[in-house]
Amino acid sequence: MAKIKTKFLCSECGHETSGWMGRCPGCGQFNTMVEERIVTSAPAGRAGRSGGWAGQSGAAAGANIVTLDEVTSGEGRRFATGMAEFDRVLGGGLVDGSLVLVGGDPGIGKSTLLLQACEKIGKQGTALYVSGEESPSQVKLRAERLGIDGSRIRLLSETSFDIIAATIAAEKPALTVIDSIQTMYAEELSSAPGTVSQVREVAGGLLRLAKHQGGVIVLVGHVTKDGAIAGPRVLEHMVDTVLYFEGERQGSYRILRATKNRFGATDELGIFEMRDTGLVGVENASQAMLAGRPLGVPGSVVAACVEGTRPILVEIQALLNASAYGTPQRMSQGIDRNRIIMLTAVMDRRLKLGLSNMDSFLNVVGGLRIDETAADLAVVCAIASTFRDQAIRPDTVVFGEVGLSGEIRPVTHVDRRVVEAGRMGFASCILPGGCRRATERIRADRLPELLFVDNIHEALDVVTG
Ligand code: TYD
Ligand code: MG
Repeated sequence: MAKIKTKFLCSECGHETSGWMGRCPGCGQFNTMVEERIVTSAPAGRAGRSGGWAGQSGAAAGANIVTLDEVTSGEGRRFATGMAEFDRVLGGGLVDGSLVLVGGDPGIGKSTLLLQACEKIGKQGTALYVSGEESPSQVKLRAERLGIDGSRIRLLSETSFDIIAATIAAEKPALTVIDSIQTMYAEELSSAPGTVSQVREVAGGLLRLAKHQGGVIVLVGHVTKDGAIAGPRVLEHMVDTVLYFEGERQGSYRILRATKNRFGATDELGIFEMRDTGLVGVENASQAMLAGRPLGVPGSVVAACVEGTRPILVEIQALLNASAYGTPQRMSQGIDRNRIIMLTAVMDRRLKLGLSNMDSFLNVVGGLRIDETAADLAVVCAIASTFRDQAIRPDTVVFGEVGLSGEIRPVTHVDRRVVEAGRMGFASCILPGGCRRATERIRADRLPELLFVDNIHEALDVVTG
C-alpha cells in the first residue's frame, strides 16, 4: 500500500514547502500555498514511469496510443435533459463522460434545477443525487414541493469522496449530481472540506470517474463574494462545462449562462422562472422581460439584444439626480459600469448636458446582464429621456453601438433584432445607418418602421420626435 504524505505548493510559482505558509517564500505572493498529496512509493503497474528518459520507450509501449481516425466520436452520446432551456445552454444536452460545474449564489436555485433534471433523466437511466448539504428528509420535502416522482431518483446523503466514488462505480448512474462540491472531502487530505486542495482533489477524482466509466457528473459550486467559484480557477480548468446561474434572488427570473463549454457554444443563455412549483423554462424571453413595463414614462427605453442565437427585448431604465458629492455616482445593474461611465462622458462632451454634477442610475429590468455594445444607444436614449423628463417615442425599440465621437456604429444580427421587435408588436425601430444594407434582405410578415441614425444628435431627435 502506498504511503501518503502531503506537501504545500505555491499555486503561482510552484515553490514547495513542507508546512503551510501565509506568504510564498519563492515568489512573495500571499495566500497561494496549497496542500498537495504525494504518494511516496509508486503504485504497482506504473514502474515504467520511474525510468526517466531512458525508461520512456518502455512506458510508451504500455501506453494506449491510437490514431485520431480510430477514435469514435462521442457526439452521438449526448442526451437531452428534457428541460429545453437547460439543454439550450448545454448545446443540446449533457454529453456522456463529461464533468459539468453549476455555479451560483446560495439560494438562486441550483439544487432545484438539478433535482428537476434528475427526475427527467430518471426516465432514461439512473439518476443519483448526492446531497452533502441537506438531509434526505429535506431533499424529500423539496421534491414533494416540486411534485417530483421520486421513484427513479437514487439519493445518497454523504460527504466522503471514497464512499461516493464506490457508489458511482457500483450504480453506474447516467447522471450524478454532487450538491455541493464544497461539502465533499477526500480522507487523505487533512484540510477541511471546501478548501482549494479538497475541492481540487475531489473534483479530480470525479473527473477520472466520469471519463473512465461514462455517465455525466454535475458539480454544484457556491460562488464566493468576489464572484469566483470557491476553489478558484482550478475547478474551472478541470471541468468540461461551466454554467452560472444568475439573477436577482428577489425577482422571479433566473438566467443560466455557460462560461465554458467543450461541447457547445458559450454565448447561449437559458431563462427560467422560479415558481412555487420549481423552475419553469421561459420560451418567450422578450415577453417575460417586458412584462409590467410602464408606458410613456421618462427614462425607460426598450433595447433589442441578442444572446447567443436568441433575440431578447429588454427594458433599460435610467434616472438622473443632482449629485451631493464632488464626484458623481455612476450606479448600474445589468450593464458594465465602465461602459456607462464612457457613455455619459460621450453624452456630456457631445451634447453638453452637464452630467458631471449629476448621479446616474441604470437598471436592466428582469435581472439580465447585458455584455453587448448594441445596448449603448438604448442607454444613451434612456439617460437623455430622464434628463429632459420626456418619454421617448411610444412603441419603439432601439439598438446600436455608440462610439467616442458620438457616432452610431453598426452591430451584428440586425435581422434577428428587427424581426423580434416586429413579432413583439413594436411600431418602430431606431438603428444604426450602417445596418441599412443588412435590413434589405429581411423578409417577415410584420416589420417595424426602420429609422436609421448615424450619430447621437440624430438619434435623440428621432427618439423624442
Ligand atoms: P435552492 O435550489 O435551494 O438554491 P441553491 O441550491 O442554489 O442554494 O433554491 C432555494 C430558493 O428557491 C429558495 O429561496 C426558495 C426558492 N424556491 C421556490 O421559489 N420554489 C420552489 O419550488 C423551490 C423548491 C424553491
Ligand atoms: Mg442547494
